Amino acid sequence: MRVPERLSVAVELLGVRPDERVLEVGCGRGVAAALMCERLARGRLVAIDRSAAAVAAARARNAAKVDAGRAEFRQLALADADPASLGTYDGILAVDVNLFWTGPATRELAVVGQSLRPGGRLLLCFAPPRGRAVGPLESALLRHLRDAGFHAGAAQRPLADGGTLLAVSARHRTPSSDESAEHGG
Ligand SMILES: C[S@@+](CC[C@H](N)C(=O)[O-])C[C@H]1O[C@@H](n2cnc3c(N)ncnc32)[C@H](O)[C@@H]1O
Repeated sequence: MRVPERLSVAVELLGVRPDERVLEVGCGRGVAAALMCERLARGRLVAIDRSAAAVAAARARNAAKVDAGRAEFRQLALADADPASLGTYDGILAVDVNLFWTGPATRELAVVGQSLRPGGRLLLCFAPPRGRAVGPLESALLRHLRDAGFHAGAAQRPLADGGTLLAVSARHRTPSSDESAEHGG
């Protein structure tokens, strides 16, 4: 199956290392999950999606990794997740999961924050339909992340189909990251 460029770029930007624990939110049919599993030689992927059909398809696509204990797919809406049972992660990825920019996503970002290890990274990617302005989406995402206690930055990558991938990366805010933000870092 052809891998959509937005997913291969998103996985590359997350920079998964072989021994990490990674969470994907809104995994859809498990295409990005498969790319991440290829990189997780000794690590583990947990992927959630609120859609039962998506989870079934993702599980089938990644059956060998599930059987090997390297991947797990759960039908779960992020807001309903209990961080204590979800676990903690070095990296968290969501691609084209609209809830992060359509509203403050207060509950969802609290779950993500509690599930991210100190030093861990969150990457939210969006490939909006061509012709749609990326700027307002970027501003909304950065605002929601900052309000939720993250230090966040955005980058835009052109895609071969003429579209744009907005990639917003975030980490827990610390006094030093606040200082670097004040100085444009
Ligand atoms: C547009 S699809 C993107 C799927 C995949 N990430 C991709 O880029 O191909 C959005 C996915 O996020 C899931 N989703 C939306 N809101 C969610 C939530 N609150 N919790 C978990 N999954 C969610 C949907 O069921 C859907 O599978």
